[in-house]
Amino acid sequence: MIFVTGGAGFIGSNFVLQWIEAESDPLVNLDKLTYAGNPENLSTLVGNARHIFVRGDIGDRALVGRLLQEHKPHAIVNFAAESHVDRSIHGPVDFVQTNIMGTFALLEEARAYWSALAQPEKDRFRFLHVSTDEVYGSLGAGDPAFTETTPYAPSSPYAASKAAADHLLRAYHHTYGFPAITTNCSNNYGPCQFPEKLIPLMVLNGWHQKPLPVYGDGKNIRDWLYVADHCAAVRLVLAKGRPGEAYNIGGHGEMTNLDVVKAICALLDEARPPHAPHEKLISFVKDRPGHDRRYAMDARKIRAELGWQPRESFATGLRKTVEWYVDNMKWAERITSGEYQRWIETNYAKRGDA
Ligand SMILES: NC(=O)c1ccc[n+]([C@@H]2O[C@H](COP(=O)([O-])OP(=O)(O)OC[C@H]3O[C@@H](n4cnc5c(N)ncnc54)[C@H](O)[C@@H]3O)[C@@H](O)[C@H]2O)c1
Repeated sequence: MIFVTGGAGFIGSNFVLQWIEAESDPLVNLDKLTYAGNPENLSTLVGNARHIFVRGDIGDRALVGRLLQEHKPHAIVNFAAESHVDRSIHGPVDFVQTNIMGTFALLEEARAYWSALAQPEKDRFRFLHVSTDEVYGSLGAGDPAFTETTPYAPSSPYAASKAAADHLLRAYHHTYGFPAITTNCSNNYGPCQFPEKLIPLMVLNGWHQKPLPVYGDGKNIRDWLYVADHCAAVRLVLAKGRPGEAYNIGGHGEMTNLDVVKAICALLDEARPPHAPHEKLISFVKDRPGHDRRYAMDARKIRAELGWQPRESFATGLRKTVEWYVDNMKWAERITSGEYQRWIETNYAKRGDA
């Protein structure tokens, strides 16, 4: 049994689906179902006894402690977080609460559980914390990519809250010998990403012939990774990564935001030639405060130590992604209409098992 948190969100749900497909262990999935958590992402698992979904907060120590005792997992994978930089700028409190205090509560319960395990289970146990490249701050145009030893320099409340949690993980390993591993990944894209993030927002706006808002001059650079490649990397680190280590995960896919949007426009042109060129919808808007200029990941450690490499290039991954959104317009419409939030409130009692 493994214990996953945040498994109804974008990356978490892709991970849960991939895990159930590729691995034999069952999985408990603890998710608070905030605005970003969507049980519809997991609809193909309804009735699958290997997936146990629990609605609840990682900061609820009594619940976490009970679940650990009940299910006796050999690993915890922590995806649960507030994840949107723009939201952290407008309201940082939830970020501090979940990303720092919530991770702390989860860690404390995990440490108590792990301390009481018999030696063979104790040796096997892992706590994998999913973090981000944003903890390293921003790079200049000619700077080398971030490595695992790049000093932390977070510049948004989101990045600062993730950095704080990463420090706790490191300290728990150093102080208690707790078998914590951190992965720091670059920007993900793929199916089921909440449509506030750049790629789904642009695909959906473009499809509906709405403006494509690009921050500033559009020259901010991100390193893009297809979500299935990230999930495969997390599974590999869980199986073979060394406790106490951090692993950078990146797609070697540096692109300016403007080039990403143009690539989406080209795919939409193919899908709907009468509306071409979709680039006419691009509109430059006031930049995000403190917008980091460039992120780039040096992922040589995970490749050399564990043999991980991304399967998708940006071109192949983006094509799959655009096709997924075009085929799943109803999924996005239910989110943007608020229909799914009402459905969640009706169907999932808070802190109940489902
Ligand atoms: N999206 C990216 O590009 C990216 C890149 C690198 C790292 N990450 C990290 O990966 C993780 C997942 O990111 P995502 O994009 O899937 O985020 P997301 O916002 O789509 O999903 C987050 C999930 O966590 C759940 N959650 C939030 N607060 C919770 C709490 N207190 N208790 C239990 N569940 C809670 C939400 O309901 C949601 O299902 C995050 O830790 C994020 O920092 C994301």
